[in-house]
Amino acid sequence: MSEAVVSLRVPPKFRPLLKNQKRWEVAYGGAGSGKSYNVTQKIVLRCVTEEKHRYLVVRKVARTLRASVFQLFLDVLSKSGYPDSLLKVNRSDMTIEFLHNGSKVLFFGLDNVEKLKSIAGITSIWVEEASETLPDDVDQLNLRLRADTPHAQQITLSFNPISASHWLKKRFFDGETGEDVFIHHSTYRDNPHLPEDFSRAIEKLKNENPHYYRIYALGEWGVLKGVIYDKYETVDRMPESFEVEMLGLDFGYNHPQALVHIRIVENRAYIDELYYERERQNSAMIETMEKEAPWVKSVRCWADAARPDLIDECAKAGWRIDKAKKDVFSGINFVKKYRLIFTKRSTNLIRECQLYSWRVNKDGNTLDEPVKQNDDGMDAMRYGIFSELGGPGKKIIGSNIRGL
Ligand SMILES: Nc1ncnc2c1ncn2[C@@H]1O[C@H](COP(=O)(O)OP(=O)(O)OP(=O)(O)O)[C@@H](O)[C@H]1O
Ligand SMILES: [Mg+2]
Repeated sequence: MSEAVVSLRVPPKFRPLLKNQKRWEVAYGGAGSGKSYNVTQKIVLRCVTEEKHRYLVVRKVARTLRASVFQLFLDVLSKSGYPDSLLKVNRSDMTIEFLHNGSKVLFFGLDNVEKLKSIAGITSIWVEEASETLPDDVDQLNLRLRADTPHAQQITLSFNPISASHWLKKRFFDGETGEDVFIHHSTYRDNPHLPEDFSRAIEKLKNENPHYYRIYALGEWGVLKGVIYDKYETVDRMPESFEVEMLGLDFGYNHPQALVHIRIVENRAYIDELYYERERQNSAMIETMEKEAPWVKSVRCWADAARPDLIDECAKAGWRIDKAKKDVFSGINFVKKYRLIFTKRSTNLIRECQLYSWRVNKDGNTLDEPVKQNDDGMDAMRYGIFSELGGPGKKIIGSNIRGL
């Protein structure tokens, strides 16, 4: 059997993207514009109409794949009319196979280097949320894409343009890249299928946060004034030896709940994202940590003082947890004394750090308070560092060893 039909709903704006055959395909723009949905539709279409694909779908961190892109493929497929009987879905390995022609979609995290190395014969690649990746990640993928196939070999990168200083802008937008690139821009206005409350939330940003409005509504590169932590570095893993370590925890339900681990070496603060989830109860975090990182219970945790009930819940589960110091302005200034070094898997913290900025009033003056958005990881980090080290009588740098 080699014939199978799918019916897809592709908005006019995305038709050129579906037709594009260039090797590099850059789909950027505002939130809710339909980038992820329509790239998924394109891949489904290619897999159905072109045989023997081994299409790789990647994100920076493997654990984010299942609830996002893998689920999206299942949703798009269920609406596409492609017969279930010809679909082989392996939920544990996260693969989807089209039995009528042998095409296959495989999902991988860039943090799973060994597993990635083991796949051969990749025919095309989609890097979802490419702003989370580093140039080297994408270069490595590019090197892997040299299969013997009659079909176009493509690398699609989809993302929101969070910062004009991002490497993606330099590489694909500024000057001559010398590469075969198709660039596609879209905003929520290009998406006829967007729920109305979503567009309203995006419109509201205009008054609430002009910087985010630019990125998430207009889909234009963010140019941030008043950035709070203007420098950060990244590292593969946390240092084994350190002077002091602590956790910072910001509670949240509608906003993400963020738990971070910090290790201090001289004036360097190494920060690792342990947990960053929205719409989960505190008990779910406790359970996840019990399974994945039971050692957290032995490390002092500084948590959002506004939720004594949840602090209690953690304490009952055996955590060494305390209320964090509240003063935001002093806390930020204290944290700024350190060089911030995030582990590479801390994608949410890195994104927040790039966006974290002082509020600006109507006259354009910078205020002494940060924009209250995308700040959950930044709060958790400040709770940990400031509460543990910024206490009265403690020296800031050099003798932070607990007990001294
Ligand atoms: N062609 C389509 N048919 C049906 N629904 C669609 C279509 N395109 C987009 N949608 C719906 O619109 C919403 C936003 O789309 P999507 O998640 O693809 O946007 P996005 O550009 O990837 O957003 P973000 O920048 O936030 O990742 C989703 O709920 C999706 O299901
Ligand atoms: Mg998306």
